[in-house]
Amino acid sequence: MWKQMLCMLSVCAIAHGVLVPLDSFSQDMLVKLFRQVLLEKVAVEWNVTVEQSNVLKTKNTECNGKIDAKINACKSETQSTCGQSPTFTDYLNLINPYTYMKGPLDDIGHSIAGVGNLIADGGKQFVSSMNGLVSSTGKVFTDAFSGLKDGLNKLGGVFGSGGNTVLGGLGSVGSGIKDGLSTVGSGIKDGFTTVTDALGSVGQSIGSALGSLFRGKREITAEARRCMERCASCQPLLLEKEQMVRSICGDEAVELNKTVSKRVQQISAIYNATIDTVHPIVTKIEYDPASMSNMKFTTVFLTAYVKGSYVRYQSTASYAMMDIPGTVREVALEYWNKMA
Ligand SMILES: *[C@@H]1O[C@H](CO)[C@@H](O)[C@H](O)[C@H]1NC(C)=O
Ligand SMILES: *[C@@H]1O[C@H](CO)[C@@H](O)[C@H](O)[C@H]1NC(C)=O
Ligand SMILES: *[C@@H]1O[C@H](CO)[C@@H](O)[C@H](O)[C@H]1NC(C)=O
Repeated sequence: MWKQMLCMLSVCAIAHGVLVPLDSFSQDMLVKLFRQVLLEKVAVEWNVTVEQSNVLKTKNTECNGKIDAKINACKSETQSTCGQSPTFTDYLNLINPYTYMKGPLDDIGHSIAGVGNLIADGGKQFVSSMNGLVSSTGKVFTDAFSGLKDGLNKLGGVFGSGGNTVLGGLGSVGSGIKDGLSTVGSGIKDGFTTVTDALGSVGQSIGSALGSLFRGKREITAEARRCMERCASCQPLLLEKEQMVRSICGDEAVELNKTVSKRVQQISAIYNATIDTVHPIVTKIEYDPASMSNMKFTTVFLTAYVKGSYVRYQSTASYAMMDIPGTVREVALEYWNKMA
């Protein structure tokens, strides 16, 4: 970058609007910093997402209970109204959020060893953030974090004097995690099996057809539907899944679920793009040397890998030569939003 600056101050009188590529040394340095900032944000966003997932998990459990109650009410109403006992076996399919966090966290676990040479601080900050995340949330989502934990374990002493340093604090949390696993594990299982058991054992008259509602294809038999339609308490159960959940548990359960799964998707896509060596995240940075104002180049173009293809765009950020970290943060945030 100093080369550019000198160039600016001396000879390189270039006409406005002519873009020149950043020299490769400066570009490499900026891209490493760019990756570092993105990964730090990945860690922070994971933290937020985990907290949201905790809330969602509670909501899902409550919601399962409400659906359970609704099903029981419908069952007894159909029984007395038309002598039918629907089984609803497949009804309860509210996915616990940890199930869709697990894959992306495993991916980080698998790839985390390769992160180091791609980013400016060698991955230290990211690794220690993920460590912090594992130890602070491990108790709640043990299974979801197991792949990540393995990956961090394999890093061993890379960033410290020994494996224990990398996983600092985990040792003492270990037993807590174990307890958490069995407690949470059986809690989840109970949440799901209670309802299934309650309904699964009841007759099959309507149930086998009804159960397919969430799987999409099969229809409720006309007879079953007629009986349910006559019963007020069965109405919500006749809706398609999302509407049913809205109707029984409220919009919030559905919206939070969407928020969490969308975030997981975005964070994971950005993580992938950041460590992608086949399609490096940024291949070109260009600026207009004549756009200098207050030690900033105001016209900057990036060529970056966005959602599966290279896109060249003008950045809203200025290339501030006296504040490279600030510049990179702005550019990284802009990229983050492009990946939404
Ligand atoms: C996650 O966020 C909470 C606050 O929401 C904070 O107390 C905790 O330190 C964060 N954990 C990490 C690993 O950043
Ligand atoms: C929650 O989101 C997941 C993943 O997108 C989806 O499969 C599931 O059906 C959603 N659950 C509810 C209750 O909306
Ligand atoms: C990220 O990469 C992993 C491993 O290559 C892949 O399984 C996953 O689907 C990718 N996720 C996204 C959101 O692109």
